[in-house]
Amino acid sequence: MVGQKFIELLLDHPWFEIAALAASERSVGKPYKEATIWRMKTPIPKEIAEMPVVGCDVKLPSRVAFSGLTSQAAKIVEKDLLDRGVVVISNAGSYRMDPAVPLLIPEINSDHLQLVDGKTGMIVTNPNCSVIGIAMALKPLIDHWGIDDVQVVTLQALSGAGYPGVASLDIIDNVIPFISNEEDKVETEPQKIFGEYKNGKIDPYPMRISAQCTRVPVADGHTACISVKLKKKARHEEIIEAWESFRGRPQELDLPLAPKQPIHYFSEPSYPQPKLHRNLEGGMAVSIGRLRPCPLNDWKFVLLSHNTVRGAAGGAILNAELMVKEGRI
Ligand SMILES: NC(=O)c1ccc[n+]([C@@H]2O[C@H](COP(=O)([O-])OP(=O)(O)OC[C@H]3O[C@@H](n4cnc5c(N)ncnc54)[C@H](OP(=O)(O)O)[C@@H]3O)[C@@H](O)[C@H]2O)c1
Repeated sequence: MVGQKFIELLLDHPWFEIAALAASERSVGKPYKEATIWRMKTPIPKEIAEMPVVGCDVKLPSRVAFSGLTSQAAKIVEKDLLDRGVVVISNAGSYRMDPAVPLLIPEINSDHLQLVDGKTGMIVTNPNCSVIGIAMALKPLIDHWGIDDVQVVTLQALSGAGYPGVASLDIIDNVIPFISNEEDKVETEPQKIFGEYKNGKIDPYPMRISAQCTRVPVADGHTACISVKLKKKARHEEIIEAWESFRGRPQELDLPLAPKQPIHYFSEPSYPQPKLHRNLEGGMAVSIGRLRPCPLNDWKFVLLSHNTVRGAAGGAILNAELMVKEGRI
């Protein structure tokens, strides 16, 4: 799923060109069109369809590798690429919490790239697909008021489970209240993302998160119902203003995939919805709605982000664009 989205987003990219496609032994030697079941809306371009898939152990004709590997494979393959001097821009979970590896969202923590300063081979990771949207929504709240606690319930799309993913008989007419290892990621990655870079390491942001993650019969777009306890009092209109005016390095640098406005707030009571809003700003913006007082914490709201675009391939390409502009690739 992520690999196909990478191809779709890289095809017309002004700075990157696809030089090779690598996958598992199952695919090696086949033309790409035979190695995969193409699920994107536009047809596979001829040059990509006919490109023979190579193994990850060959010398790649490229300095940068975008990785949509399973985390099990990534653990070995990404480390090997790193040792061979390749810049690995990864979606996999294997190295996200490694103290030497940036867990990057360019709007939030571009300074964490200092962790890989001066290195030849490097791994730079994307957060988990739910965490990216959640972290974008929390960042302006942390900047203005600080956060003590977060409670979140996710309703995650099927494409988040890869292809073929969850069996149709398990998910049609159903909600599955378990996604392996997901709650742990949602509860631990944000503290690193919001952490402060100091003396060559990241001091995590002190914040408690309680997560419950569910899989729902939606094709693309993860929803999250969030409640936050702030360190200082905030007013309704101030929070909306903080979200709508939020900008970061990608907007300053006018990066090709950067959304013009990273967070859109909807005042309609039944928004945001995956079917209507997941492709906002090419799937790179986060949609929020239903901000209201929370009887347990301070405020609660609903958030939506596109899991394979902002939450995976698009987010990773934005990381690479930032690295090009900051002179690290
Ligand atoms: N889907 C999402 O929304 C999403 C969002 C954020 C992050 N992620 C993460 O991104 C990664 C990819 O997710 P996905 O949904 O795209 O999964 P997927 O559809 O199952 O694709 C996994 C890919 O990994 C390749 N692979 C597996 N074992 C390999 C090996 N030993 N050597 C080389 N390649 C190997 C597969 O190659 P073959 O094609 O040859 O089988 C396939 O191309 C995962 O780590 C996932 O957690 C996914």
